[in-house]
Amino acid sequence: MQQILVTGGAGFIGSNFVHHLVRHTDASVTVLDKMTYAASREALDGLPSDRVSLVVGDIADPAVVDPLVAEHDAVVHYAAESHNDNSLADPSPFIRTNLIGTFTLLEAARRHDVRFHHVSTDEVYGDLELDDPAKFTPSTPYNPSSPYSASKAGSDHLVRAWVRSFGVRATISNCSNNYGPWQHVEKFIPRQITNLLAGGRVKLYGAGANVRDWIHTEDHSSAVLAILERGAIGETYLIGADGEKSNLEVVRMLLGLLGHAEDDFDQVTDRAGHDLRYAIDASKLRDELGWRPQYGDFAAGLSATVDWYRANEAWWRPKKGATEAAYAAKGQ
Ligand code: NAD
Ligand code: DAU
Repeated sequence: MQQILVTGGAGFIGSNFVHHLVRHTDASVTVLDKMTYAASREALDGLPSDRVSLVVGDIADPAVVDPLVAEHDAVVHYAAESHNDNSLADPSPFIRTNLIGTFTLLEAARRHDVRFHHVSTDEVYGDLELDDPAKFTPSTPYNPSSPYSASKAGSDHLVRAWVRSFGVRATISNCSNNYGPWQHVEKFIPRQITNLLAGGRVKLYGAGANVRDWIHTEDHSSAVLAILERGAIGETYLIGADGEKSNLEVVRMLLGLLGHAEDDFDQVTDRAGHDLRYAIDASKLRDELGWRPQYGDFAAGLSATVDWYRANEAWWRPKKGATEAAYAAKGQ
């Protein structure tokens, strides 16, 4: 594959994938991104201009999407509204981008017979009990909880229908919680790091018993490339790196890394419909495609992430005020 279109390539995970493609393949990459509040041009700095270009546009606009898809061998689709809390405040952009946007891309992929990889989330499966040893597998029934996860679940169903009914050459991946550089300060880990760096306090929803299955974004990117290159058409692959931690455990690790006492946090209003636990069984990806995570040491990855936010205050500081004002208005 020589020409790859990456939607949402200026976001947290999509930009990591663009860097990964440039390092590990010879492909030329076009980023299609609407440059919403979640996008960063800086995350694409340093990429070779003869291999990577940016088109600013909306994935829900067929006039933008159709000619662009026609010029590429593959589409890797990251673009989305991605934050659960925002979807509870206003679901409408989630419906437009995540559903209409995915539909628009699929129609173009069908028309021009272009390989399509859909990047999705483990949240489509709902949640697991805290004391249950079970993990999500590709046959776990869909049971999304929030407007965000429902819109992602709907987009997965669209992809499957376009494979079965129209023969679109698509694969799907459902990944667990990512962490690493360039993640917006609205999300859990960067919010707490930047609160502490800015002299504020950590904000934990409820008692912090909820469990997330953390994976470094570099490992997500290597998994998506493995699926793009070797995945079987029509198949779904779950991506995870056995990184289960309660939110309270993560908060205590961050407080330690930043020199605070382990109980130095505020408990704030819980998220409505808050999923209890996510956990991924990635054995299909490991066994069938030979993928292995390279950044499995969560403590080391978290420490490097703290260092990154310390060194990149000029990037996150302008986003911090509005983000915290929106949280404060909701008692969070
Ligand atoms: P993000 O919010 O950081 O980035 C999303 C990007 O999409 C931004 O650059 C934004 O400008 C762009 N975008 C939004 N609407 C658009 C539109 N209509 N047209 C074109 N571009 C648009 O999100 P992220 O955390 O990097 O997530 C990327 C993808 O990975 C999403 O599909 C998300 O569901 C999925 N995912 C995320 C995680 C996670 O932990 N963050 C885990 C699993 C899957
Ligand atoms: O599982 C994959 C999903 O992970 C992705 O699909 C989403 O795009 C991504 O945002 C993430 O969703 P979560 O809702 O799990 O992530 P978030 O960072 O918002 O929150 C992680 C956990 O931390 C969750 O249990 C809520 C909690 N939390 C969050 C914030 C922002 C807090 O306790 N305090 C906070 O301030």
